[in-house]
Order: sequence, then C-alpha cells, then structure tokens
Amino acid sequence: MDIQEKINQLIQLREKARQGGGEKRIADQHAKGKFTARERIDMLLDDGSFEEYDMFMTHRCTDFGLENQNFLSDGVVTGHGTIDGRVVYVYSQDFTVLGGSLSEAVSRKICKIMDQAMKVGAPVIGINDSGGARIQEGVQSLAGYAEIFERNILASGVIPQISAIFGPCAGGAVYSPALTDVIIMTEETSYMFVTGPKVTRTVTGEDISEMELGGAVVHTSKSGVAHFRAEDEEEGILLIRKLLEYLPSNNLEDPVVTETDDPIDRREDALNEIIPSSSSQPYDVKDIIYMIVDDKEFLEMHRHYARNMVVGFAKFNGMPVGIVANQPNYLAGVLDIDASKKAARFVRFCDCFNVPLVTLVDVPGFLPGSAQEHGGIITNGAKLMFAYGEATVPKVTITLRKSYGGAHDVMSCKQLRGDLNYAWPSAEIAVMGPKGAIEVLEGKKIMAIEDAEEKAKYIAEREANYRDKFANPYEAAKFGFIDDVIEPRNTRFRIIRALQTLSTKKETLPPKKHSNIPL
Ligand code: HXC
Repeated sequence: MDIQEKINQLIQLREKARQGGGEKRIADQHAKGKFTARERIDMLLDDGSFEEYDMFMTHRCTDFGLENQNFLSDGVVTGHGTIDGRVVYVYSQDFTVLGGSLSEAVSRKICKIMDQAMKVGAPVIGINDSGGARIQEGVQSLAGYAEIFERNILASGVIPQISAIFGPCAGGAVYSPALTDVIIMTEETSYMFVTGPKVTRTVTGEDISEMELGGAVVHTSKSGVAHFRAEDEEEGILLIRKLLEYLPSNNLEDPVVTETDDPIDRREDALNEIIPSSSSQPYDVKDIIYMIVDDKEFLEMHRHYARNMVVGFAKFNGMPVGIVANQPNYLAGVLDIDASKKAARFVRFCDCFNVPLVTLVDVPGFLPGSAQEHGGIITNGAKLMFAYGEATVPKVTITLRKSYGGAHDVMSCKQLRGDLNYAWPSAEIAVMGPKGAIEVLEGKKIMAIEDAEEKAKYIAEREANYRDKFANPYEAAKFGFIDDVIEPRNTRFRIIRALQTLSTKKETLPPKKHSNIPL
C-alpha cells in the first residue's frame, strides 16, 4: 500500500466508524425520536471542536456470536471539544451498536476520557442511552461499570460531571449518573430504574409501566433523582450548555464572570410592596428572584421536586451565584425532608465549585407530624444545616419575612458562618410564630377563661404583644445577628456589593479526612 492508499484506508475506516451500528439501526433510532450518539455530540459542542478518541476500538468478546458483531468504536463515542470555547470531555453511548450496552472496551473508552478530564481539570458530560451491561461479556462488564463509578466518585467535587439520560438507563448503570452532579432526562424517551417492570412484577406483584416506574416526570417530581426534565434532546443539550455558564471548569478555578448591561444599582420599587400585609398570605419568591438577578435570568434546578424550596443559578453583575429560597407559594415555604435534602445537595454543589450562595429566607419552621418525624426530618434537616455550616464560599442571606425556630438557624444564619445577613423591614425573626408561642406560654391561663369573647380578646392581645416584640428584624439586629435592615428595592445593589466585597474571602475547615455529614 502506498501512502495515498493508506490515507484512503484511514478515511474509509473513519467513515465506517461513523456509521455506528449501520443505516437501519440509525433509522430505527431516529424513528424513536432520538438522535444518534454523534449527532448529539455535534449539537452539544462548539462547531468543529470535537476530537474523537478510540474510533478504532472494538470489543474482544468471542462468545454468543459476538465475534460476528463487531463495530468500530463499539457502543460509545468519546473525546473532547469545547462549549463556549471552554474544554469539556464527553462520552455518548451509541444505542445503534448492541443497544449501547457497556462492554469492557466501552468502559475503557469512558475511563480514558474521565482520567484525562481529571488531569486537565475539565468537566465531563455523559450522554446515556444504553441497555446496560453487555450481557455476553458478563463480569467484565460489571467490572467496567465499577471502574467508571470509582472515577465518578474521585472526580466528584473536582470537575463538574453532568449526565444526560436520552434513552434507557437501567440496572446498576443508573449509578454512574447518580454519582454525578446533575441529571437531565428527556420527557418521552428516557427512563431510569435499578429494577425494571418485569422483575418488579415477578418479585412484588406490582404492575407498572417503564415510564411510571422511572420516567422523567417521576424522577424530577417524586424521587428527585433527576434535576431537569427536558421536552426533547435539543432542550436537554441547551440545558447542559447553560449550566456550564455558571460553573468553573474545576474546583481550583472560580466561575467565569461575564459582561452585563443590567445596572448594578437597578432599583425595583415593586419590591417594597411585594410582601403581603398579612404574614400568612403567600407570594411567589421567584418574582423576587427575577427582579433582583441580572437580566431576569434564573436557571432553576429541581423545579418540580420539593417545590417549597427553590434552588438554581443566576448572576449578579455577571458573577454566577447559587440561589436558595423558601417558597411561600407552596406549603407556605415550610422545611420538610425533601426540601432539606434538595437544598443541602445544592449548597454542597455550589460550595465545591466556588459558587457563592445567596439565600432568601421566608420559612415558618419545620413541617410537624409523624410522617416527617418518622421519615427522619431530624437527620435530613441536619443535612442542610451541615451543608451551610461547612460551606466556605461567600454566603449572603436576606430574610424577607418569616424566619422561625430551628429553620431560622438552618437557613444560613449568622452563626453558621453567614458572611452578610440582611433583613427586610418585613422580617419576623423569632423562636416561633405568635400563635404557637402564646399557646405554649399562656395555655393554662387561656384555658381558665370561660367566656369565649374574653378568651379571644386575651389571645389577640397577647399575640399582638409577642408580635411587637419579636416579629420584626430589630430584635435580631440588636444582637448583631442581622448585619443590616435594608430597603427591599435596594436588594440587588446590596447583594452585588456584598458579593464584590466577599470575592476575596478565604475560609477553611479544620484539617480532617472528611466530614461525616448526616446522610
Ligand atoms: C447486549 C443488548 C443489551 C445488553 C440491548 N441489546 N441491551 N445487547 N447487552 N444489555 C441489544 C439487543 O439485543 C438488540 O440487538 C439491540 O441491542 C437493540 O435492543 P432492542 O431490545 O431491540 O431495543 P428496544 O426494543 O428499544 O429495547 C431497549 C431495552 C432492551 C429496553 C434496553 O434492549 C432491554 O431490555 N435490554 C436489556 C436490558 C437489561 O436487562 N440490561 C442488563 C441490566 S443489568 P439485536 O441484534 O437483537 O437488534 C445491568 C447491570 C449493571 O446493566 C451493573 C452495574 C453495576
């Protein structure tokens, strides 16, 4: 072969590899409303930036007829490219090749790009669409998964890891995405479960469809396993690109600050009127978020799960921040097990990637009742407290209205190393609400009053006294637990100035192997 023939051979082999499992299987993939592994990578990365690795790798299995079913690249496409000019590593499972199943070769390809991503400090994006362990390869495949899991664990908190689920993701395969920072699922075409409907039916007798068991709706609203539900793959890919705007490439870098035309000192007069006069009346905390952040852009995570807590990314004067906010519009913004877990995970996500935290507080307390107590609200509430207390990123807290009891302490209070804790004049910071407090303090006296009118008057008077004393920010400000009481319309400016001042903050934890967060 002369050199030209050799080059032609290379071109042909590349072309063959790009065909994956062949035309028919590509057509089947499209018929299911799914893109192929390479099409997905093209959509994800900056034009022309993809450098593919291991195109010529194949499996080495000769059992069960696999010797006659060998495809260049095997069941995954891997490599690196850029998103908005920043390097990322990517793997994209190819369902057209043996159902995207994970062979030893597939595992080695994925591990290779994960190892390189760790060396250069770049995010890893995994696009999952696979029938799971390559059944013909048996234990090799199980070992291959474990190799990936260990890398997911070691990379956690070092480089951002994002998982897109654009097809099946079943069995132990679910644990790689579960070990990463963010999971995005497509609405109609993806599902995740440890045990599928057939085995579920055999073992438990429960008759349930794939989607009911592990579809995107279930995992974004009930289980909380997935953070985003995308209408289709295009939307899923846009979400990945958007998310990376708020994250640094690794834990040694800061998130990228961008230009904005949104004025630092933009006042929002409407904020002065936004808190209802009755403290039990709901309002949408997202209205406040949209008014204070740059260009009204807020990337909400976990939108459908534990809606009494809002978490997501935004920018202030171009600086990425994580926002955590109680949502009075849903269950009065109460802290329960799911809300605590959701916020704790988000706080730790931000902290490990140097994203400052802005916390908006309006919380009536923890949700009472046996369901919560028996479900472990103690341990789960402690998760959020632990996450805030351990976080060393700049922490700015604004108390909008209620901040009662243990929930006050949990929601980034001053003593959990809150850096700047502001309150609106509408803030009520106390051990508990007036009603509960008077019941405890005056219960016996109230019981002794026989006349109903007199009783109601007595309670109203006592509650008013209590409210006057504690249902304001000044009692807390008196002790320095609140650094300043601010006018609501100036909130954006005050947060930006706080973040600018805190941008050089240095805080460390005592030396230790790792903490023992109450999991
Ligand atoms: C080898 C597989 C495969 C697998 C699918 N294929 N899954 N080959 N190992 N795990 C092959 C099929 O045989 C088929 O090949 C082709 O991929 C396409 O699959 P279809 O079944 O035709 O596609 P579809 O109807 O869309 O169904 C997709 C599916 C189904 C639901 C994913 O293929 C399926 O149930 N697969 C098995 C899932 C599973 O039980 N995996 C093991 C889980 S245990 P042909 O040539 O016939 O077209 C596991 C343990 C991991 O993963 C442990 C980690 C710790």
